[in-house]
Amino acid sequence: MAFSFSNLLSNDIGIDLGTANTLVYVRGRGIVIDEPSVVAVNTKSQKIVAVGSEAKEMLGREPPDIKAHRPLRDGVIADFEFTEEMIRYFIRKVLKNPFLIRPRVVACIPSGITGVEMRAVRDATERAGAKNVLLISEPMAAAIGCSLPVEEPIGSMIIDIGGGTSEIAVISLGGIVTSKSVRIGGDEMDEAIIQHLRKAYNLQIGVRMAEKIKCNLGSAFPVFDEEIEMTVKGLDLVGATPRAVTVNSEEIREALSQPVNDIIMAVRQTLEGTPAELAADIIDRGIVMSGGGSRLRGFDQRIMIETNLPVRPDEEPMTCVVRGTGKIIENYAHYEKMLVVLRD
Ligand SMILES: Nc1ncnc2c1ncn2[C@@H]1O[C@H](COP(=O)(O)OP(=O)(O)OP(=O)(O)O)[C@@H](O)[C@H]1O
Ligand SMILES: [Mg+2]
Repeated sequence: MAFSFSNLLSNDIGIDLGTANTLVYVRGRGIVIDEPSVVAVNTKSQKIVAVGSEAKEMLGREPPDIKAHRPLRDGVIADFEFTEEMIRYFIRKVLKNPFLIRPRVVACIPSGITGVEMRAVRDATERAGAKNVLLISEPMAAAIGCSLPVEEPIGSMIIDIGGGTSEIAVISLGGIVTSKSVRIGGDEMDEAIIQHLRKAYNLQIGVRMAEKIKCNLGSAFPVFDEEIEMTVKGLDLVGATPRAVTVNSEEIREALSQPVNDIIMAVRQTLEGTPAELAADIIDRGIVMSGGGSRLRGFDQRIMIETNLPVRPDEEPMTCVVRGTGKIIENYAHYEKMLVVLRD
């Protein structure tokens, strides 16, 4: 990244405030924060004891006086104060003196959220120390981050599968032509695995174990030469004692079928609403996938088969959105018209 004097004087940052992970890009420095969106609080003093990875480690393992929170749910703020605290913590971590030159922040919002939910993101970010907050829709930021030709008269299609939402959008001439946002993502996949273990084995497992199973065994398509398995530990629901069982990739694929099918349905609906000229571009250029959920094995193949279109997962799917915000703050003038205008 080129050094410039203006970078010294400005404190511009881009934030991907995700349900699962928060990433921060600082102008002139690149991505400086990539941490889980988790805040751990002492329930007696109400003081924050940990944020990010350290707090995620505590999820489901807290002693009585500590509670680990995920302040975002389904892509939107579920707990305003903890979100604000989390953003403040990250801003202070990356900027030496955020109150001397308060940062201008580009923050992402899911495309399907309400005005109230948008204002919550803006207000929490302002109260956390931002001078002003510019909003960009998440699929647009992801498309910019993936270097799709968003401002050209060409249809580009992006599927961003996050922890809380899946965003599907067709973009042309700097605008979202058609889009669909569903509140289904990695969290629902984890929940489906928890339910499966409960039903099939009478075993209660935590969300972190469920996520581990999803990442190790999960798939959206039979991609394995031979199905694989792993040992899962949890609590027996009948005897209330710790117990281990062996689960395999086939049953986990089956357990994930509902959230996976729901996302595919949303992709189909977006394609149905796409104007013919842009649909023709997508046939030629294909679909790009971003977000952590796109790393589920075989998801690209599955979408390719279901839509009959070429699908390309981005090489670094979990940073597409924040890289998009980075490009915006490095070149505001160019991307200004793509920002979401929020009227009070
Ligand atoms: N290898 C993998 N296989 C399946 N899922 C994965 C894998 N790696 C990460 N994930 C999932 O990706 C999700 C996080 O993705 P990401 O960081 O893009 O979400 P987010 O931006 O925080 O959420 P959102 O955009 O919905 O607010 C988590 O649910 C995580 O479990
Ligand atoms: Mg996201």
